[in-house]
Amino acid sequence: MAWEYSDKTKELFMNAVQGKDSAHLGEITDPDGIGEHGSIACGDAMKFMFRVERHPTDPLKDVIVEAKYLTFGCTSAIASSEALCAIIEGGRYTPIQALEIDNAAIVKFLEGLPSQKIHCSVMGAEALEAAVFNWAQNRGVDLRELGVDIHPHEQEEGRIVCKCFSMTEPYLRRKIKELNLRTISEITDAVKAGGACATCHHAPGGLQDLLDSIWGTADGAGKSISTAHAADGADEEGRLSPYQFAKKVETLVDSTVRPMLQKDGGDIEIVDIKDLLVYVHLTGACAGCVGAGMTLKMMVEQSLKDNVDEKIRVIAV
Ligand code: FES
Repeated sequence: MAWEYSDKTKELFMNAVQGKDSAHLGEITDPDGIGEHGSIACGDAMKFMFRVERHPTDPLKDVIVEAKYLTFGCTSAIASSEALCAIIEGGRYTPIQALEIDNAAIVKFLEGLPSQKIHCSVMGAEALEAAVFNWAQNRGVDLRELGVDIHPHEQEEGRIVCKCFSMTEPYLRRKIKELNLRTISEITDAVKAGGACATCHHAPGGLQDLLDSIWGTADGAGKSISTAHAADGADEEGRLSPYQFAKKVETLVDSTVRPMLQKDGGDIEIVDIKDLLVYVHLTGACAGCVGAGMTLKMMVEQSLKDNVDEKIRVIAV
């Protein structure tokens, strides 16, 4: 899929890959603050570091004068990292002031990012927080005393909600609130959780349950599909008419499966539905993909089994 990047994003990316003097890709020897976020297994990872001009008596008056990064990721991960370093170096921030630089500031500096790439800007802001935490430890600054709330270990502690991206409940709860995320696809765009097999979307304790417990379910608007039998018009035993069954399959494919496939340049067409057999046609990049069979079983069929009926079979035609 070709992404629509702003001129600023392309310029920062090209400066970095061409090793221009203005770029920040690289490392600082003995940095004063260093932090990491993401993991290579998840496809994006960033190490961010900075050097300060130390104040002789008050570490809170240290000023960040140099910032660099290493990243494993795409165009937007590199450009977001460049933007973060440029903002910091241009502002003569103290490390505590630098915490005000959030992902929205990075997106603004880049003059926009495709919504599916917002997670790259979030990764930069998280790596900055981790680096400030490290600086505070090095300089003996008590962040709690200052009312600064950083949770460097929340990714290792707590129940895993999204196994594909190893994301825990404490981390996801914080990001849902901080970034005002209201839907599963907004969570996926911002932090990638839910962006692979989709089984964490509507599983008990999954992403939809987190959204419901944080924002509530006004008039059932946030109710998970799997618990909405009565609203679907199912009979007393939970059975759907053929029409209702087909509508439910279509709704699930439109709201969950199709957006996931489109992120990778593919798409899906429902050709027919007979009893519990759903005949589909994969199109776009999915059509010729060697992993199409796996996508069909692991993502399309499993989502329908989890959310509509566990006996569903999906067949490619
Ligand atoms: S478990 Fe969340 S995307 Fe697979």
